[in-house]
Amino acid sequence: MDRRSFTRSLLGAAGLVALGARADAPDAWQAAFESRRAQQPWQMGFEGLQDDAAPLPLAMRGRVPPALYGAFYRNGPARHTLGGERYHHWFDGDGMLQQYRMGPQGVVHQGRFVRTDKYLADTAAGYPVRPAFGTNPPHAEPIRSADAMNVANTSVVSHGGELLALWEGGSATRIDPQTLQTRGLKTWTPEYAGMPFSAHPRLERDGSLWNFGVSSTASLLSIYRVSADGRDVRTASLQVPDIAMVHDFAVTERHLVFLLPPLVFDVERLRAGQTFLASHVWRPALGLRVLVLPKAQLDAPRWFQLPAGFVFHIGNAWEDTRRGVIRLDYIRSPDAWWATQGIPNLMRGQYQSADHATMALVELDLQSGQARQELLPHAAEFPRVDPRFVGQRYRHVLVSERVAAGPRPGYDAVTRIDVQSGRADRYRYGTEVLAEEHIFVPRAGAPEGHGWVLGTALDLRQRAMLLSVFDAQHLVDGPIAQGVLPRVMPLGLHGIFVGA
Ligand SMILES: [Fe+2]
Repeated sequence: MDRRSFTRSLLGAAGLVALGARADAPDAWQAAFESRRAQQPWQMGFEGLQDDAAPLPLAMRGRVPPALYGAFYRNGPARHTLGGERYHHWFDGDGMLQQYRMGPQGVVHQGRFVRTDKYLADTAAGYPVRPAFGTNPPHAEPIRSADAMNVANTSVVSHGGELLALWEGGSATRIDPQTLQTRGLKTWTPEYAGMPFSAHPRLERDGSLWNFGVSSTASLLSIYRVSADGRDVRTASLQVPDIAMVHDFAVTERHLVFLLPPLVFDVERLRAGQTFLASHVWRPALGLRVLVLPKAQLDAPRWFQLPAGFVFHIGNAWEDTRRGVIRLDYIRSPDAWWATQGIPNLMRGQYQSADHATMALVELDLQSGQARQELLPHAAEFPRVDPRFVGQRYRHVLVSERVAAGPRPGYDAVTRIDVQSGRADRYRYGTEVLAEEHIFVPRAGAPEGHGWVLGTALDLRQRAMLLSVFDAQHLVDGPIAQGVLPRVMPLGLHGIFVGA
C-alpha cells in the first residue's frame, strides 16, 4: 500500500467511525448516565433537552405581587447530549434562556436555546463538531476563536436597553427580551470584538456596569466599564502571571476585587489536545491570590494572599473607609475537585459526596496588606445580594444551601445570611426538591433586604419546576406565592428579574 492510499484508508476508517457515531448510539457517558437514571431521580436535572420549550402557563397557588410583574430570566446549560454523544461537564451544554413572564393573568414560562455559532454548527451536523469547556468531542474541528465554542449558557444581564446572554470565555450574545430570539454577538468596541466578557458583570447604583474577561492563552485580564445607557465603553487589559480560572469578581466604591484560585492555565496542555478545563493545573503553593485594582488606576494592582482554595462566586464587597479595609464574602471550596471531577461525574450519573463549598468572610487591610478569612457553617452556593447594595455596605446574602440534601447533589434550602450577626433565615424545600439560584427583588424605597425573594427549584416527585415568591424578611414562613410548571427543565445557573 503506497503512502497516499494508506492515508485514504485512514480517512475512510475515520469516516466509518464518524458514521457510527451519527447513528445516535449512546457513547460511554450517555450509556452510564442512562444506566443509573431510574435509581437516581436527581439525574432528571442533568438530562437536558433537545428542543426549545414552548410557552406554558404555571398552575399558581397565591398571587404574584404586582411589584413582580415583568420577567424572571434564567440561563443555564440545557443540551447535554447530541447524536448520542454526551458532554462530560455540566458547563458544556448549549445555553437556554428561560423566561417566566409574570402578570395579573398569572405566569407563563418559555425557554429558547441561544442560537450561537456552535449551537448552529453542531445542530447542522447532528453531533458536536466544536470543542466544549470540558469535552473534546470525537469529531471536534480545530477552532480559531473563543466564540467558536461560545455556548452563552451561564447568566443573563439587562443593561443599556439590551438583554444579553453571557458565557465567560467569549462575547455576550444579544437576545430579544420578548421572544428570546438570538440577535447576534455583542461588540463593545472594535478593538475588543470577540474578547471574553464574563458572566458576572456588576451593576452599580448609578446603572454603570463593570465587568472583566480572562484571555487564558494571552495571560490577560481585561476590564470593561460601560455607562448606564451603554454608550460610553472603557476598556483596559493587564498581564497577570499564572493566570487562573476566574469566574466572578466584586466591586467596591473605589476598587475591583478578584480572587484567583490556584487553578492555573497551562498552554502546553491545551496544545497537547487537552480540554480547556483539563488545561488548568492545581497549584496550591500559589495560595488564593487576591488582586485589588483601584478603579481610578487600573494599572496599579495590589496583591493579597489567602490560603489555597477554589472559588466560583463572590456575594458582595464593600469598603470600610474608616478602618481602611475591604470586606467581602465568597463561597469557598478547599480545592477544585468538585469543579474538575465532581461535576463531570454527575454527567455520567455518579454522585460522590464532597467537601461542600461553604461561605467565607474576608477582610483585606489596605494599610498592612494583610488578608484575613473566617469560615461560616453554611454549605452553600449562588450568593446574591440586594442589587441596590452592590459595592456598598451590606448585611444580607441570599444563598442556595445544602442542609440535609441526602445522597444527591445540589441544594435543599434557600437561606438569607446576615453577615454581621451570622443569623440565618431559611426555607427548606425538602430532600425531593433541588433548589436553583434565588434572587432578591427589592421593594422600592425600603431598607436593604426588604422585598421579595424569587427563585426556581426542580421538584423530583412532581417532575415539575417550582417558581416561588417569598417575603424576603420571612423565608421561614414559606412562599407567599408558588407556581408549578408541569415539565422538567435542566438545572441551570443564574437569573435576573426585569420589571415590566
Ligand atoms: Fe456563576
